[in-house]
Amino acid sequence: MSFRLQPTAPARPNRCQLFGPGSNTKLFPKMAASAADVINLDLEDSVAPSDKDTARANVIEAINTIDWGNKTLSVRINSLDTPFWYRDVVDLLEQAGDRLDQIMIPKVGCAADIYAVDALVTAIEAAKGRTKRIAFEVIIESAAGLSHVEEIAASSPRMEAMSLGAADFAASMGMQTTGIGGTQENYYMLQDGQKHWSDPWHWAQAAIVAACRTHGILPVDGPFGDFSDDEGYRAQARRSATLGMVGKWAIHPKQIGLANEVFTPSVEAVAEAREILAAMETAKANGEGATVYKGRLVDIASIKQAEVIVHQSEMLAG
Ligand code: COA
Ligand code: MG
Repeated sequence: MSFRLQPTAPARPNRCQLFGPGSNTKLFPKMAASAADVINLDLEDSVAPSDKDTARANVIEAINTIDWGNKTLSVRINSLDTPFWYRDVVDLLEQAGDRLDQIMIPKVGCAADIYAVDALVTAIEAAKGRTKRIAFEVIIESAAGLSHVEEIAASSPRMEAMSLGAADFAASMGMQTTGIGGTQENYYMLQDGQKHWSDPWHWAQAAIVAACRTHGILPVDGPFGDFSDDEGYRAQARRSATLGMVGKWAIHPKQIGLANEVFTPSVEAVAEAREILAAMETAKANGEGATVYKGRLVDIASIKQAEVIVHQSEMLAG
C-alpha cells in the first residue's frame, strides 16, 4: 500500500446533473427550480452551430440574472477541436459573474487539453480580478480520453468531476450501438440457449472511478437517452453507484428524481452501515479485529466500506 493517503473528493452533492440547451431559454427557470444538485447549461452538442453565439449570450445572461439557489452551476463549453471553445471561455470568464462555479470540458483526450483551458482561464481570472476560482469538470467520451484518463484526472487542481459520455464514447470506440447508455441488445453471453446481458460500459466506468478516486475527483455517470424508460435508468444508475460513482446526468426532468433516489443512500443501507460500525466498535473493545454481523464476516475493511455510506449520507443531509 502506498504511504500516500487517498485525497477526498469535493464534499458537495452531485447526485444529478441536469442539462439544458443554451439555446432554449424557457427551460432555464425550470432548471433553476428543479431538484438537481448540479446544473449544466449547454453550449456544445445540444446547440446547433448557427445558434452558438446566441446560446453563449443567453447562458451569460441567465447566470447573471436567475436565482440558482445553492446548486452547483456549470456551463458545458465546446470541445477543443471546434472554433467555438475559446470564445466560450473568454466570454464566460469576462462577462459571467461569480455565481458561475464550474465549466465542463467535453471530449477531453489528454492532460494537455486541460492545460490549455487552464492557461486561458487563469489569465482571464487574473486580468479581471476574479476572486473565485472556476472549477473544471470533464467528459471522458473518446478512446483517447479513456486511454489517458489517469493523466487527465491529475491535470489541474481545478478538476472536481469527471463524467462518462456513453454516446460519443461508443462512436469513438467504433462500437456497434445506437442507444445512449444502458443495456445493448447484442452484448450478451449465451448459456443453455439463454441470453444473459452484460454491461458494455463497465470497464470504462471502473477506469474513470479509479482515476477519480486516485486524485480526489467526483466520478459521475453521463446521459441515459431513453427518458421513457425509468427502470432502465434505475438499473444503469444502480450499477454506477455500486461501482463508486456519485451521480448521473438527467437530460429530462423525469430523470432527476430517479438519480436522487439511487444516489442517496437508503435509510436501510445507512442503518446497516451504522450497525456494522457499532459491531466493530464492540469487537475493538474486546481486542478483536473481526467479528460476525448477521452471520457474515465484518472486519477493519468493513469499517471503511460502512463509512463510505455513512459519510455520503451525512454530507447530503448537511
Ligand atoms: N430541464 C428542465 N425542464 C425541462 C427539460 C430540461 N432539460 N426538458 C424538458 N423540460 C420541461 C419542458 O419544458 C416541459 O415543461 P412544461 O410541462 O412546463 O411544458 C416538461 O419538462 C416536459 O417536457 P417534454 O414535453 O416531455 O419534453 P420536450 O419535448 O419539451 O423536450 C428534450 C425533450 C429531450 C428535447 C429536452 O428534455 C431537452 O432539451 N433535454 C436536454 C438535452 C440536452 O441538454 N442535451 C445535452 C446533454 S446530453
Ligand atoms: Mg458528448
